[in-house]
Amino acid sequence: PKQAFVNNLIKRMTLDEKIGQLNLLTSDMDVTGPFMKPGYKKDIEAGLCGAIFNAYTPQYTRQLQEMAMNTRLKIPLLFGYDVIHGHKTIFPIPLGEACTWDMALLEQSARIAAQEASADGLQWTYSPMVDIARDPRWGRVAEGVGEDTWYGVQVAKAKVKGYQGSDLSANNTLLACVKHFALYGAVQAGRDYNTVDMSRREMYQYYLPPYKAAIDAGVATVMTSFNEIDGTPATANKWLLTDLLRRDWGFKGFVVTDYTSINEMIAHGNVKDEYEAGAAALNAGVDMDMQGGIFAGQLKKLLKDGKVTQKTIDSAVYHILAAKYDLGLFKDPFKYCDNERAAKEIMSAENLAAAQKIAERSIVLLKNENQLLPLKKEAKIALIGPLANSQRDMIGNWSAAGDYTRAVTLLEALKKRSVNVQYLPGAHYTADTTLYKRATQKQRLDAADTTDSQQMLAAAVELAKQSDIVLMALGESQGMTGEAASRSNISIPENQQQLLRAVYATGKPVVLVLMNGRPLTLEWEDAHIPAILETWFLGTKAGDAIAAVLFGDYNPAGKLTMSFPRNVGQIPVYYNHKNTGRPMNPYNKYSTKYLDTENDPLYPFGYGLSYTKFTYGEVKLSKQQLTAGDKLQVSIPVTNSGNYNGEEVVQLYIRDLVGSVTRPVKELKGYKKIALAKGETQTVTFEISEDDLKFYDKDMRWKAEPGDFTVFVGTNSRDVQSAGFTLK
Ligand code: IFM
Repeated sequence: PKQAFVNNLIKRMTLDEKIGQLNLLTSDMDVTGPFMKPGYKKDIEAGLCGAIFNAYTPQYTRQLQEMAMNTRLKIPLLFGYDVIHGHKTIFPIPLGEACTWDMALLEQSARIAAQEASADGLQWTYSPMVDIARDPRWGRVAEGVGEDTWYGVQVAKAKVKGYQGSDLSANNTLLACVKHFALYGAVQAGRDYNTVDMSRREMYQYYLPPYKAAIDAGVATVMTSFNEIDGTPATANKWLLTDLLRRDWGFKGFVVTDYTSINEMIAHGNVKDEYEAGAAALNAGVDMDMQGGIFAGQLKKLLKDGKVTQKTIDSAVYHILAAKYDLGLFKDPFKYCDNERAAKEIMSAENLAAAQKIAERSIVLLKNENQLLPLKKEAKIALIGPLANSQRDMIGNWSAAGDYTRAVTLLEALKKRSVNVQYLPGAHYTADTTLYKRATQKQRLDAADTTDSQQMLAAAVELAKQSDIVLMALGESQGMTGEAASRSNISIPENQQQLLRAVYATGKPVVLVLMNGRPLTLEWEDAHIPAILETWFLGTKAGDAIAAVLFGDYNPAGKLTMSFPRNVGQIPVYYNHKNTGRPMNPYNKYSTKYLDTENDPLYPFGYGLSYTKFTYGEVKLSKQQLTAGDKLQVSIPVTNSGNYNGEEVVQLYIRDLVGSVTRPVKELKGYKKIALAKGETQTVTFEISEDDLKFYDKDMRWKAEPGDFTVFVGTNSRDVQSAGFTLK
């Protein structure tokens, strides 16, 4: 029925109406890119617009949908939005949430986001972002899940399922949009919008699988990336959008560009003007133009000149109308515009409780010397730092509709607990040198007020001296991460470091509570500060979650999904690197290493501590030889030998010792998150089959090769036990 309905509708459409469906226009409620195509309401009234973004609430979407219902063919509008880590109830930024290693929770936050967004008039989210990223200078690492492909695949599946549910026509699910297709996480030098250059092998082995996983999970839409691939921007890349996506992967939904990325091809230099840009994008496989106005302005002439065909236009229209059909919009275009439902379902107590639970589980304990944490309830606490009471920062970047006035800061959470706490900001947080150069005049004046800064610092030191323990809430402001927020220096901003060092010099015990959107360089902090807690931007319930962990109501169990480099010069540093022909040997100058630092990161992939201690026994294999179609069990006893109940993420890695092409030193192939009461032992068992050993061989065939393998099990990618087996 869908095909017949949509094809029948297409037959009745004029060329202008068809081209109209291929346009996604932003409303003026919010803007997420460089410029706006004005007059979106006129376009809607004329039936020349297929979808709107940055417009929500039942009232506003109803108003715009009514305009669409007054057009000749009454084709409903589709409402999209950047619902990235929650709609109104904000969850941790994706890089933080990934540290839960809990797919059920990741699916749940997407489900809640879909429920709230659909109650607020929306049907489409520009999420999940599944770009593998190994460069923390890139601000958008905050929106992804880090450096690992296998892990990225699990998250991609969970998120698509969470957003789309099992029935797109239900009024509480959303179309998901996997982005940024493709390879956006590999922009050179971590600079946003920059060039990508990558071998096919690297793409297939490491960067493409999470997008493919989203397609296999039935994701309804795909967003093209800003970068080029093999010299052609993704938005005009026929190999990518047609051969790979539609032919090889069987994608049936629609492809939308990123914001004005058709226009931007003129600057890329692969097309001369808008006319050429429009043809290149449509012919490559783009269905919908986000905010560029190029399809609207050029397609008619392109068709007349024979540069694009009617068939290609019709097929793009089909993909978009089919999505609207799947949502049930033709039956009821107002099914998402219900004020009562919005009031009941958005930011419900249930959703907020889930936000707190997920936030607690996203926290990663990086260091805890002499069991400084958890805090004693009666301690006299100094809370110092510009992030200790900043509501806006708590909900992080891309929290578009999130209401930061409802976010709980750490100060507020501590006050609620009636603990003995005194607070001072101690420093301005905007005085990061790079940002400073580009800051607004007001920000400059604030940051340049050095007298004020000196006084703040002196007062903070004084407060520290009068306290038993100091909590320092430092890191990045939310605007220092996310889109267009690349940094060449990823340390804690200079003025906050000065504050930290001054407080440290008082000799008082310091707990560093980090808030940030990317791995930071923390060599000094790791060497000096006794306790470090990575809290990212945890969302609406941030403060409550941090306080729960600080006081031991919840024992932290988060594990990093992106390595923290020692310094920027090590980047890219990631756990699944190759061995090279001259593996690192500290006694051999001519081996792969630096003269001035280690090869390893400061905190490796999979790393994270607990208040308790987990002791790993010996790893045992059920057999030494594995044959195709067979399975091998890997088991290891894990004991909670510390003083608290806790959770541990037991990780499984494999190395293929000899391949027809070189293989990484380790690859994550599984994990189990277990809860152990103090004193308890559990034997954790993993199963390995031939499928887990497959890779793209010399001839780019996906297969496993017979030979020797090492299996590693441990608490992170560095601290592991190992055993060997052979694939026959
Ligand atoms: O969805 C985003 C994308 O990730 C970056 N550019 C703007 C889009 C729409 O806001």
